[in-house]
Amino acid sequence: MDLLEKSPGRHVDDQREVAEPRDSRVTRRTLLRRAGLGIGTVLVAGSGALGYRAYDQGVLQVGDGPAYAPWSSWREQNGLLRLVGAAILAPSPHNAQPWLFEIGSGRIDLYADRARWTGATDPFRREQYVGLGAALENLVLAAKANGYAPQVTLLPDGSGSSHVARIELARSSPQASALYAQIPNRHTNRYAYVQGKRAPTAALDAMAGLNNSATGDARLFWFAGAAQRSLIGDLLIEATEALMADPDQSASDYAWFRQNWDEIQRQRDGITIDAAGLSDLVAALAKLLPAQSQTATDNAWLAATRNTHTKTAAGYGIVAVRDADHNLQRLQGGRLLERIHLWASGNGIALHHMNQLTERADREIQLGLAHRFGDQLTELMPSGWQALSTFRIGYPTHTPHKSPRRSVAAVIVT
Ligand SMILES: Cc1cc2nc3c(=O)[nH]c(=O)nc-3n(C[C@H](O)[C@H](O)[C@H](O)COP(=O)(O)O)c2cc1C
Repeated sequence: MDLLEKSPGRHVDDQREVAEPRDSRVTRRTLLRRAGLGIGTVLVAGSGALGYRAYDQGVLQVGDGPAYAPWSSWREQNGLLRLVGAAILAPSPHNAQPWLFEIGSGRIDLYADRARWTGATDPFRREQYVGLGAALENLVLAAKANGYAPQVTLLPDGSGSSHVARIELARSSPQASALYAQIPNRHTNRYAYVQGKRAPTAALDAMAGLNNSATGDARLFWFAGAAQRSLIGDLLIEATEALMADPDQSASDYAWFRQNWDEIQRQRDGITIDAAGLSDLVAALAKLLPAQSQTATDNAWLAATRNTHTKTAAGYGIVAVRDADHNLQRLQGGRLLERIHLWASGNGIALHHMNQLTERADREIQLGLAHRFGDQLTELMPSGWQALSTFRIGYPTHTPHKSPRRSVAAVIVT
């Protein structure tokens, strides 16, 4: 999605090699219309004032600057800080990074930063705790790789407390794992996936087998057959429409959308244009033009869900637990989700978290609405299981870009 493609020497014009998602073409037309420009105008103007704006907006500096440094410096930290460096590379809802770490003698305590919350999108904080579970999994994998035997106590001060986990760290022999090695390579991939290419059963089984005693009862269920994909795809589109029609959910989504280079470097969180799965050209134009409105952002997201995300999903996975309201089970589910994402990353499989269904189901409960999506989820899940977190997988057409991260120093409490 950047002007400078990942592979060296690849040029913007080479975009045609990969079928461009339909929504990208629509978005580009919309962008150009909004700007009152034809494409030639943009390119000619690029040598003058627009060239400066390109610099100012980081059009050319995809993944550069301090906001992205934690992806390369994570192993350079000393002692237990190195484990925190791995934890903060975990996924989190809207890249809110809702974590704080306290370093003690031979232990790390993980806390929820309750202020870093996505509000109406996550009314009961399920996603916040799933993200904290993902960070905990990275920390544990890094502890083992760096010569510690981690002993985890979840919610040591009770399930309502923001004290999420205590990790005791006795010295041990290092145990690097394939999952650990993927920590800096794992990114949420919002691009189109290769049309019609299904994941082999062995891969689906391997991912479903990533649960262990640390992930408790959490389990992965696959929805990969044609009828299931079509059913979940349609539900995701309807749930996206419902989210857009809910002013508070739409606003809380938009609040985490970062469109400005300075803002990204200052805040080092949120969803960026580079991470949105747009083609390189559309992303470059989006950065050059004035910030997109909430409505335009909603419309682009709905178009991408309809024309790209659901159209090219090779299958959907749902991490489920016995009780999705239970913070401890959410943490365990988050640990499993991160193991799945790391495994996918190491095996050439793209993964995109898509939680519109649970976000709407929680909102229905919060507002006392009819349980439209909640009932659909109950019907989908085997008896005794509740959906916690949903994602699509497939084979990548593009390498996803990094998302910003706050520094280790910014998430340490004393
Ligand atoms: C619990 C949870 C829920 C998420 N829900 C969504 C979602 O509904 N849609 C989406 O595009 N990304 C979703 N994400 C992905 C985050 O936006 C992503 O992890 C974050 O922006 C950081 O990017 P990275 O995963 O590439 O590091 C979710 C992540 C987590 C952990």
